[in-house]
Amino acid sequence: MDTWYFEKRGWDSQSAVADGNRFLIANGYMGLRGTVEEAARLHCPAVNLAGVYDRHADRWREPVNAPHPLYVRLSLDARPLALGETEPVSHTQRIDYRRGVFSRHTDFGAAVLESERFVSLAQVHLLAARLKLCFREDGEAELRTGISTDLWDLNGPHLFDFAFSHGQTLLCTAVTGEKKIPLAVAQRAVCDFRCTERFETGEDGVFRVLRFAVKKGDVCRLTLLAAVFTGLDTPDPAQRAVTLCNQASRQGYAACLRESDEAWERVWQASAVEMHGDDEAALALHASQYYLNSIAPRHAANLSIPARGLSGQTYKGAVFWDSEIFFFPMFVHTQPEVARSLLRYRIETLPGALKKAAEYGYRGAFYAWESQEGGAEGCTDFNVVDVFTHRPVRTYFRDKQIHISADVVYALRRYYEITGDDSLLLAGGAEVIAQCARFYLSRATRHPDRETVDFADVIGPDEYHERVTNNAFTNRMAAYCVESALALRDIFRARPDFIAALTEKLDYARDWELLADLLGRIRKPRTRKGVIEQFDGYFALEDCSLDTVRGRLCDAREYWGGDHGVAGPTQIIKQADVIALMALFPEAFSDAQLAANWAYYEPRTEHGSSLSACMYALTACRIGRLDRAWELFEKTASIDLVGGGKQWAGEIYIGGTHPAANGGAWMIAALGFAGLRVEKGRLTLSPHLPKQLTRLRFPVTVGEERLLVTVTHEGWTAEKEE
Ligand code: BGC
Repeated sequence: MDTWYFEKRGWDSQSAVADGNRFLIANGYMGLRGTVEEAARLHCPAVNLAGVYDRHADRWREPVNAPHPLYVRLSLDARPLALGETEPVSHTQRIDYRRGVFSRHTDFGAAVLESERFVSLAQVHLLAARLKLCFREDGEAELRTGISTDLWDLNGPHLFDFAFSHGQTLLCTAVTGEKKIPLAVAQRAVCDFRCTERFETGEDGVFRVLRFAVKKGDVCRLTLLAAVFTGLDTPDPAQRAVTLCNQASRQGYAACLRESDEAWERVWQASAVEMHGDDEAALALHASQYYLNSIAPRHAANLSIPARGLSGQTYKGAVFWDSEIFFFPMFVHTQPEVARSLLRYRIETLPGALKKAAEYGYRGAFYAWESQEGGAEGCTDFNVVDVFTHRPVRTYFRDKQIHISADVVYALRRYYEITGDDSLLLAGGAEVIAQCARFYLSRATRHPDRETVDFADVIGPDEYHERVTNNAFTNRMAAYCVESALALRDIFRARPDFIAALTEKLDYARDWELLADLLGRIRKPRTRKGVIEQFDGYFALEDCSLDTVRGRLCDAREYWGGDHGVAGPTQIIKQADVIALMALFPEAFSDAQLAANWAYYEPRTEHGSSLSACMYALTACRIGRLDRAWELFEKTASIDLVGGGKQWAGEIYIGGTHPAANGGAWMIAALGFAGLRVEKGRLTLSPHLPKQLTRLRFPVTVGEERLLVTVTHEGWTAEKEE
């Protein structure tokens, strides 16, 4: 079985949207959904752009979808040969994960349409497709191909002032509504058959219509080369788009693909995990790695990754804690330059975090829960729509999920600890840590009659319980942040000038003392028989089963959290919370503690977020529950292949790929099954290989070197790669 390849046979309109995620091809700059060339808006085709946001009227700000330049629609004697309109004899869609290549084979009876396409990993503005048509009947064929502006948007429209030109190269330009960012898409077509050509421009885009007489047995080929640029890339996107299109057409499809393949090969050399013993699991892991690797912002030094990647506008294209806690680990261990980009994004968006803290009356840096460009908060106060009343529900993710700042600090510090490289700390990272610690200083609640301080009115990772006090995860993360700020003075012991300059710049002299005092006072969690109470009063909530709570739902799309949610009054939680804490600080807990907490919380966890299962799996590895670790790995790794995961939160569409689970799959394999740990450039392994596997092999970047780790049931080796 080829564990780098996924194929789906059959066509049904119902799963076209999910297939758009499953067959996504992306390169960090853009994501082209895995819909067929002729897909109608109903099937959600999109070219989703990273880091370009727009807000229409008072709707949610979200990333912009570019006009679609690989649109093709075939007809024969005026009969459409198009999925969605014509029932095919057969249809197969494939994705080659190693090369990021999408392909399809559709037999319409009268003709067979085959296509292949990619977005280049070598030239991130470039997309290309190659089509082959085999006719089984004589007739008059028509191919309509061009740049479609019939865009799928969740909260659009986002593009205005469309202008089109045609000739050898088609060009479509537009500007975004809010910030007037110009955008240009160009397309060139090369065909190997004689035809007449005419152009059409209209509300739905600019197209060339190719007409040609065909005979049974004729084979016709069409190649499309297209380019996308925005005003964020260059002052003249139109000129750049046309130039790249022309250059690519001189280079030719095959050469462009070869270049992209080579770039992918470098990615896999740095990161591919070989899993022996279970091919299905190996395929799921490769798929996960592909989905995450394909959205890494390798073209930019300061971008992060949205929670639904580049699969669409879900979650407003925003950056969550997913970046630091779930994406960062794979990248820091395999492609540290990507990890640096994620962190630089946070360093550069510090002004947004300072502003948000000030808006709420706090000092320091309070990062956006849903961070858009410049660190702007994308999360609204009403982030869920009630399915019964259709009214927006007041949610508190934006204002109370304060662990976000500490999550950023966690990754910054882990980067330093893993790589030993202090350059990010010196280039703004230390300031981020200091400002986040200052935020917790001002956010803590002191009591005149108590030594300890609380973090009251917060939300932990389990979003179903809002406005709680002393969430164990939040308190521990806040303490880690404060401790990290204090540790800066040790880290830069040899650079007192740096600490002095930081102290002066931030007017921090008094804060150092206050932080040292705060650290000792942050309330430690309460425990019962070794089980950490998730927050004050959690154990007093109704203790019922997941099925009981699920049975109380009146509508499958109902939101479980918030004021009236079914989970709120119970101990049922959305996702790993105490267990997430244990997965982030494994060395701080004994096996007995881990086992007690795992046994308590796992049955009470809905795993309603794709971020949950991997945290439980990591802890399951530590305590030897390898049977459960394996199940949770399969669930995590196959999420986008199977097309699972929640599609709705109340009335809000939340479908898309699941990069956090994708990162989680790598974490379970490398950090869980292999027990990888790298500290200051030193690698250790303490494997917990499940019985389903015979061997795991994967590369790890340690300092300047790449080591190839092999784990079997007999032991492990780590060899230097030549
Ligand atoms: C989860 C968050 C997560 C977000 C984006 C939510 O459903 O509860 O923890 O950050 O999705 O993935």
